[in-house]
Formats: sequence, structure tokens, C-alpha cells
Amino acid sequence: MRIVQKLIPGLLILCMLRANAQNTQEVKMKSFIDALMKKMTLEEKIGQLNLLTIGVDVTGPILSKDVEQKIKRGYVGAILNTHGPAAVRKLQEMAVKDTRLGIPMLFGLDVIHGHTTMFPIPLGLASSWNPDLIQHTARIAAIESAADGINWTYSPMVDIARDPRWGRIAEGAGEDPYLGSLIAKSMVKGYQGNNLADKTSILACVKHFALYGAAEGGRDYNTVDMSKVRMYNIYLPPYKAAIEAGVGSVMTSFNEIDGIPATGNKWLLTDVLRKQWGFKGFVVTDYTAINEMMEHGMGDSAKVTELALKAGVDMDMVSEAFVDHLQKLINEKRITQTEINTACRRVLESKFKLGLFDDPYKNLDDPDYKEKILTPENRAYARKAAEESMVLLKNENNLLPLKKSQTIALIGPLADNKQDITGPHGAASNIKNNISVMEGFTQAGVHFLFAKGANITDDTLLLKELNANGGNITVDKKNPQQLIEDAVNTANKADVIVAVLGESQGMSGEAASRSEIGLPQSQEDLLKALVATGKPVVLVLMNGRPLTLDWENKNVTAILETWFAGTEAGNAITDILWGNVNPSGKLTVSFPVNVGQIPIYYNHKNTGRPYKGDILFKYTSRYLDVSNDPLFPFGFGLSYTNFNYSDIKLSKNILTTTGKITATVTVTNTGNYDGAEVVQMYIREMTGTITRPVRELKGFQKIFLKKGESKNVNFTLDVNTLKFYNSDLKYVAEPGNFKIFIGGSSDATHEASFILK
Ligand code: BGC
Repeated sequence: MRIVQKLIPGLLILCMLRANAQNTQEVKMKSFIDALMKKMTLEEKIGQLNLLTIGVDVTGPILSKDVEQKIKRGYVGAILNTHGPAAVRKLQEMAVKDTRLGIPMLFGLDVIHGHTTMFPIPLGLASSWNPDLIQHTARIAAIESAADGINWTYSPMVDIARDPRWGRIAEGAGEDPYLGSLIAKSMVKGYQGNNLADKTSILACVKHFALYGAAEGGRDYNTVDMSKVRMYNIYLPPYKAAIEAGVGSVMTSFNEIDGIPATGNKWLLTDVLRKQWGFKGFVVTDYTAINEMMEHGMGDSAKVTELALKAGVDMDMVSEAFVDHLQKLINEKRITQTEINTACRRVLESKFKLGLFDDPYKNLDDPDYKEKILTPENRAYARKAAEESMVLLKNENNLLPLKKSQTIALIGPLADNKQDITGPHGAASNIKNNISVMEGFTQAGVHFLFAKGANITDDTLLLKELNANGGNITVDKKNPQQLIEDAVNTANKADVIVAVLGESQGMSGEAASRSEIGLPQSQEDLLKALVATGKPVVLVLMNGRPLTLDWENKNVTAILETWFAGTEAGNAITDILWGNVNPSGKLTVSFPVNVGQIPIYYNHKNTGRPYKGDILFKYTSRYLDVSNDPLFPFGFGLSYTNFNYSDIKLSKNILTTTGKITATVTVTNTGNYDGAEVVQMYIREMTGTITRPVRELKGFQKIFLKKGESKNVNFTLDVNTLKFYNSDLKYVAEPGNFKIFIGGSSDATHEASFILK
């Protein structure tokens, strides 16, 4: 205690010094930008608000034209999709040397799960339930992309998603606002580091603001219509968390909110983002989102440009609507100079914070830059991240882990595949660096026989579409029946079948919605033939979304969900299959039994007629042909060992508005392997002024237990744990009865009760 007392004055001085340094920096920034803006013409200011695309990737429906000339004329503030120090330097020099004021540009890229060293897709990373690990993957991505000339990433994507038909569910953290918020914060911290001016920091961009994950029917770019109460309690928290973590930029979403597209929505971009949340960075649109407001029916090109600027957009991605119309809109007095100045200042501030005015070629002069990329350490971390992300969904008769003495039939179109394991948004990855499952098996020296068994899909229309968009999916010369026969013959020579099946990377991600989310028919046929051999089957899944796996779950012996696991996928899968690593991932999104159950999510409302298990009682909220329960619930994931949970002990049963309650469980590893468990704590408010979810995640801890070991796990709750937005959108906790549940999944059965007074 005395030590703490002694330390306090020191800490206070440190805090004051830090605050002072920050103030000095703010003053310096203001006077620098004041002076710069005094020199800028209106045209130059508008140029700062223009983001064009040029370079290696195409990530939208149109490409920018004459970009180099436009840079030299001072019409461009930022570039998307160019990377590599030489390519970036060439363009940066045009901005710095060929324009009147030499203002450097931002260079942005979708670095969303790694730059060259690829980590699992974000939905996979989230399944690690390990925010520190996720932060470190973002740090590595920042270091690699910064070395490669990038200073801005369009990540984290924090859209809550309850509909697995939506392909972009792959890019986010799943269905939960609490977990999603923690992950949003970690990613922002990982990318931006302690100081944006550092050579290893890049500017983060939280997207897609807002509610994009609730697109109708899971169709990309579609309509969203949602109550404010749902917005504030479920969908907005992760964006807000990113703002609180200091994210430097925000990207608008393609959907509408209350009938107004996000890109022209003043309530969203100004009232919520700036006034309620105090966001100080800049807002960029999504790709051509200003122009798309014409298709939405919001007016002509000038009108939608006016809407966007007035709503609070600072930078226009690829529409070139700002450069085309802002000057004219000023002349017509439809917008003001002040509005342009505000947007321009925000963009310049970001460049200042990144240190680009001090050194526009930051990171572009390092001859050894390649040594920072794909290092053995980064690869090792990618392997660890992939291992922590994988979720064991079924393991009958403890088939897994496999034994070195067994002969394995490695079957499936994804088994020797190096390209799809990258998943959507490969940034600067190269499939040559990827380890396929077959390579993982070979390196581990296990005994296996291989047969492809099926094409990823035999649907010629789908193939055409996927391949037109970079799918590179080949169709085998053998016909589907021959492929299956070969696979069955191979399987018959083995002890265990490992079937590596799932989606190609283009079947998930942007513009990759599916109405049926099972395995493609060709692979389903193969799996049925493999099961018919009577040999035990381990289904190793690669996919970017929850799949419908009802038949698979009933018929195969073991299922391992590996997502698109990135560069080290094959090694990580091998480690798990042979038990070098015990799986510990847990789902962050519910897996439906069938598509008819969608939307499906654990934190649903009770309704006035909840189903209580009696099928003869007709008038309840349910289906006649399928249960309301998901196949695999949120939070679910098995281990090679077993964890036993004790009853919950509460330190007291009454919580006051200034007090705390500690909930304790003892978790024991009762199985035969050491392993990690994600201990999850949920609450339910039994009555409220608005209806409350049946469960809400409010805490979790990932613990490691040696076999036979026990640990007490404590969760502390106070009034803040219980707060939510009421019908007046006030953030309150309401007195009343609460239940608390602790366990290894959202269907945890141990419960206790307390009262908030
Ligand atoms: C996507 C964004 C992405 C942008 C730039 C858009 O189509 O919706 O998520 O950041 O393209 O590539």
C-alpha cells in the first residue's frame, strides 16, 4: 500500500507530462495545418478529399483513369491498391515534387488478416477468443504492410452478422457485440501501435459504418431496416469501441439506414459519430458509394455529392464526385467553404499524425524491407494463430487425435490446394508461400495416400462466375464418377479418411452471398461415398461462413472447422489432427441446421410464446420441421480433453449501484490431455422496460489447464456490466432480477441469480 502511495505522485507526473506532450503536438499540428491551408486553393483542398485506385488489385466495379496526371495536378489525396516501396515512391514523388504544395498522399490497402504472412480470416481469428493474439496479428500485418509502403488499412471490419448467407461474414468477428467490441479495439491498437508516426504504424479504418452485416436476405449491398434499440445494443457497439480505441478513420457502408444511404446519412455520420461519440478522424466512403446513391434514388450526381459532404463524408473513394462537383456546389451556395475546410483539415491531420509531412517517403527507402516480411517469426505466429482459430465440432469415439501408426486416406479438392487457404482479401500474399494440408502431412512424416475425389464444384455457371473473378478453379480431366471411384479405392486401403472439403475462397467474402450454404454438391456426393466405405471419416472444413452440416454431423466421425487458415494452414491442421496442439477455438457465430432457420443467433429475445419442448402444444414460436436450436451454438467448440464446471458461487446476491459481485466457478481438466478452455459468462435480465435477450455474453477468460488440474475462475460484475440502451436510447441499468450462466458455450447450464437494487 505504501509503495502504491509513493508511486501515485510519480504516475500523476507521468500522466501530466504525457498530456502536455500531446497538447504540444496538437498545437504544433494546428499551426502547421493552419499555415498550409492558408496557402491552399479551393481546388487543392478538394484534391485532398479524392481517393483513387491504381495498381495491382481491383476491389470494386470501376477503375480510376489517368491517375498519374491527376496526382500531378494536385487532384489526389490518397491512393488505393498500390503497394511495394518502388511503386509507392513513384506516385508519392509525383505528389511531393510535381504539385505546387507537395502534400504527400495516403496509400491504402485492404490488409484485413495479414499482409504477406496471412493469418486466418477474421471470423477464424475471432474463434480464438484471444484479443491479445488478434492484436499481435494486426501488429505483424502493420509492420509488414508499412515496410511494403502502405500507411493505411481498411480494417477492422466490425459488422455484426447474424446471417451466414452473407459472404462478408468471413471478414468480421461474428454475431456478438461484446466480443466484437474487444476485437475491434485490439485490431485498432495492433495496426496503429503507440504512435502513428512510428515506422511500424499504419492508420486503421473501421468499417462499414454502419449495420452493413444486416443486409436483407444476406444479399450484399442490400437494404437494412432496423430499430434504434437494436442498433444501439447490438450493431453499433463494435464501431464505438473502435472509436474509443482511437481509430483514425471510418468507412461508410453501402446500405441505407432509416431510408438514407449511410454515405449521405447526416444522423449517422455527424450526430452519432461526431457528436455522440466524439470521433476526431476522417470519414471515407466505401468504393464508389457516393455515385451509388444515384442508383439508390437519392438524386443526380451533384445532389448526391452535396448529400455526402453535408452528411459528414471527408474523402470520396473512387467516385470522383467531390472533384467533379464541389467547386460548382460552392458557386451555387449549396455547400460552404467551411464544410470543405473541415474535411480537408481532417485529412491533413491524419497525414500529420502519420509523420508524412516530416517524411513523405517514410518506409520507402529501406533496401532491406523484404526482411521484415514473411519472417520465420511471423510464420510461426501465423501457425499459432491458425491453431487457436480452429474449432473441433465433433469427435466421436475420440477418433482424433490421429495416431502416427495409422494409414490416412487424404481426400478432397482442398487437400493439396494452396490457393484457397488464403481466403478472401489476400493483400500482398503469394500462394507459393502457403502450406497445403498435403504439404503439412508430408513435412510431419505421417503415412498417407491421396486422391482428389471431386472438383470444388461441378456447377458450370458458378465455376464460370468464380473463375471470371480470379477463382483459378480447375476441373479435373476425369469425370466426377471416376474421381469418386478413385477416392473410394484409396480410402479402402487406409485406416482413417481425412476429407478436406469446403468452399473456394471466392465463395465467401465480398459479393459472395449464397442461398444454400451446404457443401457444394460435388463434394457432398464424394463425402457420401466415403462414409459408405464404413471407414472413420474426419471432415476437415475450409470455408468463410457457417455451413449447414446436419447430414455431415450425423454421419461423419469427426469434424474440424479450420476456416481459411492462411499461410500456415497445412502445418496448423497437421498439428491439430495429430494432437501436437489441442484445439481450443470456439464459434463466434451460430451454425444453423438449415437455411430456413436464418437469421439465427444466441442472444435472441424470448418472445411471448417461447417453445418449451412440448411439441403437442401448438401455439408457440417455432417450426414444424426443424428445431429452433442451431446445429452448433455460439461459443461452442470441443477439446481433446474434457472440462468440468462446478456450480457458480456468488460473493453476494444483491448488487448495489456502487457495489460489485464476484462470480466464481472451478474448472477442472478431467480428460487425458492438457488444454485451453474459453470460460464464458452470460447474463439475463429477467424483466426490463424493454424486452431483453435470453442471454448476453458479458465476460470470458481463456485458461490453460494441465490434465487433472483445476482453477478457480472469477468474474466481477458491477452496474456497468448490466447497462443497455433503453427505448429513449439512454444507457442505463435497471433494478431487478438477473441470472448468470457460466460454461464453455452459450448453452451453459450452470446458473445463479442476483438482484440489482
Ligand atoms: C469494400 C471495402 C473495401 C473497399 C476497398 C469495397 O468494395 O466494400 O470493404 O475496403 O472496397 O477495396
